[in-house]
Amino acid sequence: MVHINENFAKLPAGYLFTEIGRRVSEYQRLNPDAQIIRMGIGDVTLPLPKACIEAMHNAVNEMATSEGFRGYGPEQGYEFLQQKISHYDYKKYGVDIATDEIFVSDGAKSDTGNIGDILGINNKIAVTDPVYPVYVDTNVMAGRAGHLQADGCWSNIVYMPVNAENNFVPDLPKEDVSVIYLCFPNNPTGTTLTRSQLKVWVDYALEHKALILFDAAYEAFITEADVPHSIYEIDGAKKVAIEFRSYSKTAGFTGTRCSYTVVPKECVAYDDSGKAYALNNFWRRRQCTKFNGTPYIVQRGAEAIYTEEGQQQVKQIVNYYLHNAQIIRNSLSAKGFAVYGGINSPYVWVKTDGTDSWKFFDYLLHEKHIVTTPGVGFGPSGEGYVRLTAFNTLEKTQEAMARI
Ligand code: MLT
Repeated sequence: MVHINENFAKLPAGYLFTEIGRRVSEYQRLNPDAQIIRMGIGDVTLPLPKACIEAMHNAVNEMATSEGFRGYGPEQGYEFLQQKISHYDYKKYGVDIATDEIFVSDGAKSDTGNIGDILGINNKIAVTDPVYPVYVDTNVMAGRAGHLQADGCWSNIVYMPVNAENNFVPDLPKEDVSVIYLCFPNNPTGTTLTRSQLKVWVDYALEHKALILFDAAYEAFITEADVPHSIYEIDGAKKVAIEFRSYSKTAGFTGTRCSYTVVPKECVAYDDSGKAYALNNFWRRRQCTKFNGTPYIVQRGAEAIYTEEGQQQVKQIVNYYLHNAQIIRNSLSAKGFAVYGGINSPYVWVKTDGTDSWKFFDYLLHEKHIVTTPGVGFGPSGEGYVRLTAFNTLEKTQEAMARI
């Protein structure tokens, strides 16, 4: 008899964005004339930067020749891309990251989900609340989460609320935790931590021999000087943090798929006897076994982001979305809504008029034909909020705000 992984049976039936997609399709089916504006899932709308397109065309042409053809590539990515990452994403901020500490992959979603493979089942996990659902769901799948309680929290996960009352800065957990997921600029709230606020977490991890899984997928949207671009800007972080980056929102790669994860060689985890193991070796071993690398053509496209034209084009894309975010912020606060985020982030976190998240989601969908993401879908502390993304076109963003 084949046995199922029973942890999957504990999960709510649908992944958050799949459930939203289902509700929207159903509504559209019943109301075919409704002009729906999508500000729910953070999917981009602008085309890929020209520099990336050109580089990918060239790579396709290379693949058409016997000299240029490539089969399996290095599982952890080609050195040409790792070198650019090391130089432009880290050296620029005074951080030394070696190429063999960079693992190119197909998405921060998969890497933040898969990283649990190299961590023990008995780790005590801490997440902010609200939180990107992948961190929680993958720990449920792995059997680290315990059971779902009536309050919407998993019994073995430590939740650190972030809300207007604490200025969206999580407090250190009261109980001892060993793995902490932090995402800044934050998905879903769009808020950030300053250097000194992030240092508190690095110091905690150093003191408790804990690990921080730092999701920096929205780094390119940072506009304020005191917001760190990388956790490694904080002293000691290389010993206790893994960082995830993505080209999805920055360069329109949501469908093209390319990202990377940094696992510094000095970052360790321990066995029961207290012996330390380098996570870099474990992640390499995991990737070589389960992953065959991001396609060469895609990595050449990503490399082009670091050319002069690429940098300019990406900046334009980011500014376009940040401008949309500003429109959303200004329009909704003029209507009397409390709004957060959207300054260093493409996400605007909006307090509803007092109705619960799903009711407000339904109201906006049915009455205004606007798709949002209900805050409670990101965790119990998201109740009473919805998230709007700035990833639509300028015209549709303006139209949505006019409808509200
Ligand atoms: C979101 O809407 O939160 C993101 O698009 C999800 C993701 O990047 O996987």
